[in-house]
Amino acid sequence: MTLTAPILVTRDLIQVVDLSATEITHLFALASRMKADYSAFAGSLAQRSLVMLFEKPSLRTRVSFELGFQKLGGGVSFLDHQVSPIGVRETVEDYARNLSRWVDVVAIRCRSHDLLKRFAAASSVPVINALSDLHHPCQALADIFTLLETGIPIEQLHLVWVGDGNNVCHSLIEAVATLGGRMTVITPPSYRPPAEVLRVADGRSCRSGARIVCTDDLDAVKGADAIYTDVWISMGEESQTLEKTALLAPYQVNAELMRRAGANARFMHCLPAKRGEEVTAEVIDSSASIVLDQAENRMHVQNALMLALLRPDIALRI
Ligand code: CP
Ligand code: NVA
Repeated sequence: MTLTAPILVTRDLIQVVDLSATEITHLFALASRMKADYSAFAGSLAQRSLVMLFEKPSLRTRVSFELGFQKLGGGVSFLDHQVSPIGVRETVEDYARNLSRWVDVVAIRCRSHDLLKRFAAASSVPVINALSDLHHPCQALADIFTLLETGIPIEQLHLVWVGDGNNVCHSLIEAVATLGGRMTVITPPSYRPPAEVLRVADGRSCRSGARIVCTDDLDAVKGADAIYTDVWISMGEESQTLEKTALLAPYQVNAELMRRAGANARFMHCLPAKRGEEVTAEVIDSSASIVLDQAENRMHVQNALMLALLRPDIALRI
């Protein structure tokens, strides 16, 4: 592929709609090249540095960002904010302006999406959302990349979300709305994605031809290419456990629901999973499950993003 302009017009990745369909397509092409052979990219981020600020626990995001960046020759610093939230010791703006003097890119996992936006507004280096209460864009991009790897053309994709309409669901809605295809979101009415997420998706769908439908009807799983679920209680929601779990119980992804979806349905989950709650062990550990492909692809897609942001000269040579 030969490109004549930088892959990314955007600077920050706060939510998926910060990227155009063209930008995502280029990132996916770059991620495929990296996944096939990293040797052409060795040392491409030498002298570059990433700092990660995390207010919540992480396995996949932390490891895939840290080791991914190091794989390209860069240096990483991890700042654990689980005990002392961002903005307590000094203002969010002072924090962002200081870091901007030392590092090339910042990845943040935080409790409040508004804090992330404040940080990005004050930062003079790119800021990446590594999960907020509202969005998880790196996850959704890796998930769509994973689905495309299975050979499903995007315009024919039918992704079905089952369970809580949460941060991962919001980012997947934005990704499908931007790229095209179909997404059915099956949740209890009270856990449907907020109107603002659906409004933004509508704007994108007009251009891409995507169809996003919200329902509480579990029969809508029929014909899905993939059934996606996530934990019922996201990080930070621990006080809602009893009531929410009871309401979501009928939305468990089990063998019966997979059977209703049809023989071609894959199972997806961002992980970590709670076997016996949102999904049974029988489903997540079955041959239909592509959860580990999703986890692996986090690193390749994020690395493509890092290269496109920090070394567009190399990214352009793919
Ligand atoms: N999927 C995901 O973001 O996993 P972690 O919370 O372990 O980073
Ligand atoms: N919805 C989950 C995703 C974890 C990767 C959470 O926010 O805890």
